[in-house]
Amino acid sequence: MEASKLTLLLGLLALLTFLASFSAAEVHFYEFIVEARPVMRLCRTLSTITVNGQFPGPTLEVRNGDSVAVKVTNRARYNITIHWHGLKQQNNPWADGPEYVTQCPIQPGATYTYRFTIKDQEGTLWWHAHSRWLRATVYGALIIYPRLGSPYPFPMPKREVPILLGEWFDRDPQDVMRLAAFTGGAPNVSDAYTINGQPGDLYRCSRQETIRIPVVSGESLLLRVINSALNQELFFTVANHQLTVVGADASYTRPFTTRVIMIGPGQTTDVLLTADQRPARYYMAARAYATAQNAPFDNTTTTAILEYKNAASSNQGLAPVFPTLPAYNDTATATAYTAQIKSPSQVRVPTQIDEYLFFTVGLGLYNCTVPNSPRCQGPNNTRFAASMNNVSFVLPRTNSLMQAAYYGVPGVFTTDFPPIPPVQFNYTGNVPRGLWSPRRGTKLYRLKYCANVQIVLQDTSIVTTEDHPMHLHGYHFYVIGSGFGNYNPSTDPARFNLIDPPQRNTIGTPPGGWVAIRFKADNPGVWLMHCHLDSHLFLGLAMAFLVENGIGPLQSVIPPPPDLPRC
Ligand code: C2O
Repeated sequence: MEASKLTLLLGLLALLTFLASFSAAEVHFYEFIVEARPVMRLCRTLSTITVNGQFPGPTLEVRNGDSVAVKVTNRARYNITIHWHGLKQQNNPWADGPEYVTQCPIQPGATYTYRFTIKDQEGTLWWHAHSRWLRATVYGALIIYPRLGSPYPFPMPKREVPILLGEWFDRDPQDVMRLAAFTGGAPNVSDAYTINGQPGDLYRCSRQETIRIPVVSGESLLLRVINSALNQELFFTVANHQLTVVGADASYTRPFTTRVIMIGPGQTTDVLLTADQRPARYYMAARAYATAQNAPFDNTTTTAILEYKNAASSNQGLAPVFPTLPAYNDTATATAYTAQIKSPSQVRVPTQIDEYLFFTVGLGLYNCTVPNSPRCQGPNNTRFAASMNNVSFVLPRTNSLMQAAYYGVPGVFTTDFPPIPPVQFNYTGNVPRGLWSPRRGTKLYRLKYCANVQIVLQDTSIVTTEDHPMHLHGYHFYVIGSGFGNYNPSTDPARFNLIDPPQRNTIGTPPGGWVAIRFKADNPGVWLMHCHLDSHLFLGLAMAFLVENGIGPLQSVIPPPPDLPRC
């Protein structure tokens, strides 16, 4: 009698545990304290804005379907917001984060709790400050595992390691931005690149702290590579090891192997690595892929060490094996690599296009009338500018675009962002000087709910051609084509990949070329699209979409949370 009761009880318990493993998604609560902390890099201690005193900030680990609440308390002396880069935030722009776009900033002393649910997304994303240049040090990984019980579409790796590539300035990055905003000249470049916050062996005072990644012979590793650098596309490689790309921007990709990846700021790339080499120590390294002509860039190399645990102790004294990296201007390698990224199988790309948009992206110059002004330190007495379709984007100061749109506050923005360039010209040719100066404006482009949108992003040769990593908030999109020179609407569409294009949230324009993307505007709200180089964003290389509500609450922006900051 007792025994059978016990069996029943145990059986019940087993059943409950089994059911719990399939139970509703979890709710995660995180607390972010934003504050200045002393951080020592390159032989100097700098007061650095951090989250919870960590640099890089805490890694968020969640599952598809989970809900997240992050209470952000601002103890720094700057206004701040946090953006969950690549999260779709369906109907919920209030949690997206870009300052003055979807919210007013969290002022010093204030708090705001970001609440959102992960819906149909898996893979590697990240979070970062979206206020001035604070994301230089305020960033971290956001890892979305599949739902409990659902596997990866590739062999389960033995270990997983986030690899956050960053950029370190040997001074307050806010001062670098402020100085450039004052002088109109190019901002100073960084002093080091970093892997998980550390510059590595090739910089002064850094060797001790070089990141070491242990591995056992035969094991496979999943490296979740995130480019969180402020202003630089990067090449990344691991000495002697093949990398198998399996995901990008939290979408799975058709696996392919490569020696090197190119990754733009904002992008993530998941790669599998098998420890199939002689037990030893190997460098992983990253350095610039720099495409702007005659522009200074940080030409240093950051390293971490892949360390075989069973390496013979005699090996430990040897210098790690150093990889070869492409030259900083190796556009051929960058282009060939990017072209290999595809969806794993056939996908449903929008074909009945409602909005054919064509946006030029690039730099510009404002002429100065006062000669030798300290405020005109750009080339030949000018100030640098940047624009899309000749509009240099200006953030409002008294309200956020989303709050203004939701409450119908007039005078904050207009909805006349041009669908095509106001003047058509030979975008990548010798552009007449008269076309180099954009107009400032806070212009949005209105999209009907569920409109099918195609955007061709066309780089220009104004000042210089360049790879611009273009990021769209609130969406991911299919990258259906790209090429060099001017986009040709009568011949290029024939070469579009409408079968298995990759799904991304950030894609670079080839330098002096174009890239075409498609998405369905099924997420109402105000969504920023911008160059993810902060050195271009602050010059106005941005625009925003105002996506209308559909019918009923399920197709509409949810009401704002009560603690949404006011300006
Ligand atoms: Cu990763 Cu607008 O940002």
